[in-house]
Amino acid sequence: MKKVVLLTLMSAVAAMCLSVWGSVAAVQKKAAPKGKGPDAAGLYQAQCAKCHGADGKGIPSLPDIPNFVDAKWQASRTDKHLTDGINDGAGIMPGFKATIKPAEVRALVLYVRAFAKK
Ligand code: HEC
Repeated sequence: MKKVVLLTLMSAVAAMCLSVWGSVAAVQKKAAPKGKGPDAAGLYQAQCAKCHGADGKGIPSLPDIPNFVDAKWQASRTDKHLTDGINDGAGIMPGFKATIKPAEVRALVLYVRAFAKK
């Protein structure tokens, strides 16, 4: 009799482990979707928003911070200009060449451009 109880308990524990493992795997899949391009929005929020603002208008207390929403500012800069700025830095902005991959920098340029299209 005792053996049966023990066996039932053990299989219950095993089932619990399996379901926990299953949901962890599901969460990991969600966090890193396969086949998707660089996460420009995530990068921007993590690395750029502290100076450029989540809305792209720039933190007002920073001198020379561009307003990405301003179509005139956008028109005054080429894509290469933006790419070079992100890679090599500009003014107080550090260069990101060492930490952000070229494909991600391209995605960030498109992300910066998109602020003026809204
Ligand atoms: C420490 C604050 C700071 C951070 C962090 C920062 N920037 Fe900047 N960024 C600036 C400032 C200030 C300028 C204006 C520099 C100038 O023209 O003197 C600027 C300029 C730019 C420009 C225009 C470049 C040019 O030459 O006109 C782009 C594009 C840009 N930033 C994108 C980004 C992106 C993308 C990130 C995140 C990967 C980022 N910035 C992170 C402060 C920052």
